Amino acid sequence: MNGAGKAYFGRRYLLSASHRLHSEELSPEANVDAYGKCNNPRGHGHNYVVEVVVGGAVNPETGMVIDLAALDRVVGSRVLERFDHANLNLDPLFEKSVPTTENLCRTVFGLLRDALPDGDLEYVRVEETESNFFQCYEA
Ligand code: NI
Repeated sequence: MNGAGKAYFGRRYLLSASHRLHSEELSPEANVDAYGKCNNPRGHGHNYVVEVVVGGAVNPETGMVIDLAALDRVVGSRVLERFDHANLNLDPLFEKSVPTTENLCRTVFGLLRDALPDGDLEYVRVEETESNFFQCYEA
């Protein structure tokens, strides 16, 4: 650990996507009760801000927890290329779950957890609107 504490590096990514909140487990009325206008069949979009926080020892040679270009490649290939400007409802990962931002956050965490070249994935935070954000940690 280089005689020092664990360090954390966070990076923000923009992700624009659409979704419709609708559960096959609920009646049409219960869907409207649960999701309100977010159950509208036309769907709607968000400009999500996805924050990825990586923790670990600082590499004594580079002075970094993780190489940010390497992190960008992993987030780009596993998350952004998959979800940016996409309809989340059509992704197989949401075939059996409602693409709420809670579930998007958990899904992004799962896609990145074992793919980082260095460090540990501490958490993923997704801002859905100016008011709402969600965080996912290792269970
Ligand atoms: Ni929404």
